[in-house]
Amino acid sequence: MALERTLSIIKPDAVAKNLVGAIYTRFESAGLRIVAAKMMHLSKEQAEGFYAEHKERPFFGALVEFMTSGPIVVQVLEGEDAVLKNREIMGATNPAEALAGTLRADYAETIDENAVHGSDAVESAAREIAYFFSDEEICPRTR
Ligand code: PPS
Repeated sequence: MALERTLSIIKPDAVAKNLVGAIYTRFESAGLRIVAAKMMHLSKEQAEGFYAEHKERPFFGALVEFMTSGPIVVQVLEGEDAVLKNREIMGATNPAEALAGTLRADYAETIDENAVHGSDAVESAAREIAYFFSDEEICPRTR
């Protein structure tokens, strides 16, 4: 087990459905600590930059349009095996394939509006956290 941090986004569909508190409860109930958080409305440039690795994929334009369609809530989650734990809490990218009890099974209907994002590896987590947060904005727990 390793103490890790991961980048999590509550996407515009879930914010619009008033699910921020319910999703935070899932993270906290699983033992993940929220050590940084902010609400943002991404510009086209910010969304394109965040998803740059996917820019050749056919859904890139739709993904950017969706992610800029309304406010999101971005957080850094910290805990033992936080990257994998958050991926398990989220469920599969396609809600139709997500296990029962996961966020995407419970709160998302389609692959293009799937409620949450989570980093897929420790390395991408470091890059994604730095994309949204300065070191000063991350508040490690002291108790
Ligand atoms: S994964 O698990 O993140 O690697 O999934 P991947 O299939 O690589 O998808 C990368 C992100 O693109 C989103 N996605 C889509 N958006 C719109 N339309 C379609 N068809 C589609 N397929 C995948 C997917 O939700 C991933 O976004 P994030 O924010 O990383 O979850």
